[in-house]
Amino acid sequence: HLLLKVFCLISSMAHQNELQTGLAGGEVTLNCTGILPDSKLSRDTLVHWKYYDTPLCKVSTSLPLLPSHTSAFITDRFAIKTQYKQLWVRNLKLSDAGIYTCEYGSHKVRTSLHIFKLMIPLDGHFLQNEVPELILMQNSSSPLPDLRITLLDSHNNRVTPELQNKSRQKYIVNLRKLETMDSGTWVCQVHSDSPLIDQNIPFAVKVLGFQNPDLERKYATVDSTVILSWHLNSQKIKWKEGFTGQLNWKQQESANPHELLDFNITAQGQLHETKKSSDFLFEIPEIKPESTIEVKLPKVHFNHSGQYQCQLEYQGRHAQSKIELVVMKVSAKPVGPLSRGANMTLTCQVAGPLPPNAYLRWERVNGTKMDIKNSKQKEVKLEVNISAAGLWSCHLIEDSDRKISAHYHVEEAAAWTNYVIIGASVGGSLLVFAIGCLCIITVTNWQRRRQRAKRMAQARQYLLENKTCQCQQMYMW
Ligand SMILES: *[C@@H]1O[C@H](CO)[C@@H](O)[C@H](O)[C@H]1NC(C)=O
Ligand SMILES: *[C@@H]1O[C@H](CO)[C@@H](O)[C@H](O)[C@H]1NC(C)=O
Ligand SMILES: *[C@@H]1O[C@H](CO)[C@@H](O)[C@H](O)[C@H]1NC(C)=O
Ligand SMILES: *[C@@H]1O[C@H](CO)[C@@H](O)[C@H](O)[C@H]1NC(C)=O
Ligand SMILES: *[C@@H]1O[C@H](CO)[C@@H](O)[C@H](O)[C@H]1NC(C)=O
Ligand SMILES: *[C@@H]1O[C@H](CO)[C@@H](O)[C@H](O)[C@H]1NC(C)=O
Ligand SMILES: *[C@@H]1O[C@H](CO)[C@@H](O)[C@H](O)[C@H]1NC(C)=O
Ligand SMILES: *[C@@H]1O[C@H](CO)[C@@H](O)[C@H](O)[C@H]1NC(C)=O
Repeated sequence: HLLLKVFCLISSMAHQNELQTGLAGGEVTLNCTGILPDSKLSRDTLVHWKYYDTPLCKVSTSLPLLPSHTSAFITDRFAIKTQYKQLWVRNLKLSDAGIYTCEYGSHKVRTSLHIFKLMIPLDGHFLQNEVPELILMQNSSSPLPDLRITLLDSHNNRVTPELQNKSRQKYIVNLRKLETMDSGTWVCQVHSDSPLIDQNIPFAVKVLGFQNPDLERKYATVDSTVILSWHLNSQKIKWKEGFTGQLNWKQQESANPHELLDFNITAQGQLHETKKSSDFLFEIPEIKPESTIEVKLPKVHFNHSGQYQCQLEYQGRHAQSKIELVVMKVSAKPVGPLSRGANMTLTCQVAGPLPPNAYLRWERVNGTKMDIKNSKQKEVKLEVNISAAGLWSCHLIEDSDRKISAHYHVEEAAAWTNYVIIGASVGGSLLVFAIGCLCIITVTNWQRRRQRAKRMAQARQYLLENKTCQCQQMYMW
């Protein structure tokens, strides 16, 4: 007798046990499997949905007054779809997990509802370099399965997250360190072998930060114009919250930061900047790309090298991006033209944070191997005693790349006129930004006077053609 009962139970269960999964906050439609469509059911068929033993709703084919689409509410989260008498549950909660039964005539269809809940902190609004923790929870009427969890990032690349599962109910999923490029839709893939479950849970991630690399190094020669820019990605990712930030400068790692400006960006994306420093000479360019923090140093000082850090703040959390400015200058002692057999000392100096593999090199353009001198690594000053006139260049070399060059033109004293050309080339292109001078000669010799007049005319012509030049030195002879 007992055996028969058990057999019946097993056979009926084997026939009509269903498993369905749902996501907390989402909705699910539970099938009353095997039921005929409403029009083919005999009149007066009563369909009865229960949660364990609790009646949820009852619907009859003969009741004329039921609304056409849904009927018989128990709460506003539960409804029955008329045609196939499916149970529709909205705004799912973890506690909705359990056994739902659909009964009609002598049929009984049992569905086990398995609920997953993925909790994303801060509504998915992160800053670059944060490593958020997601929490995945599950609930079911049967013993909870061991889950395998993988993530697909916004570019559909598989990420194997670090998991902490204190229990099968709750898994802590560590995302990787986020970059601005990680903004977009991620998918949490949940798999279990027994019962067989494959559930994809999409979620949105926005990573606010800079489109610049974390650390940039910029090179300039003294007195040139430098523009430092930080590009925020707030518009690109449609960040709809306000945030603030500031730009700081410090000459050395150990020095106190000096605030240059602060800014705020409204939820509508409007940028407001306020200049904070009066003793540091810089401008905020009026025309610049949107969501860009920018400063212009019109004639950069040697001592304005150092770290420029842009930091943004959102809900007490911070992200930053640094630009390190390296400034180079060259000088000669004595400055004048080089007489035959005399010596002159050229000095090249850099200020700013140098990478460990950088060194300085003086060399004469079109010179011999004898005209090359290298500094030791990390030395910030290189002097060379020269006795050959010509164009001398100082290079900052990093991993055999010339990062910046400054030039000094040494004229031979025999010539009546001395040009000192100080130019700079950044990344290979020569930019002459200042031209030196002409010399005033007082000689009695007629030929020399004629020479002088010619040289003066040439110099005047040069100055006319190069309107931006400045006379740096004036030599009297
Ligand atoms: C529910 O029933 C519909 C219609 O018969 C079917 O398309 C769907 O796959 C079923 N859903 C589940 C989870 O069994
Ligand atoms: C899991 O579901 C049961 C009902 O099936 C409920 O009593 C319990 O509170 C739920 N657990 C959680 C963590 O919500
Ligand atoms: C945690 O997950 C790992 C891998 O999925 C599994 O081997 C381990 O048994 C789980 N521990 C608990 C407590 O569920
Ligand atoms: C943003 O900056 C502007 C100008 O400095 C200021 O008037 C405004 O109050 C600031 N707004 C917020 C939300 O900080
Ligand atoms: C930087 O150098 C300039 C002159 O080259 C000087 O006027 C200025 O005070 C210096 N600034 C600092 C912060 O040392
Ligand atoms: C020039 O410098 C070299 C060494 O760099 C030295 O040997 C030579 O005596 C110097 N000549 C003069 C004229 O100072
Ligand atoms: C170096 O040599 C090249 C080719 O011989 C010549 O065009 C150039 O003017 C020279 N430069 C200097 C500064 O002497
Ligand atoms: C350059 O010459 C000066 C004197 O003329 C001397 O004091 C100095 O040590 C020399 N420097 C180098 C690098 O040879």
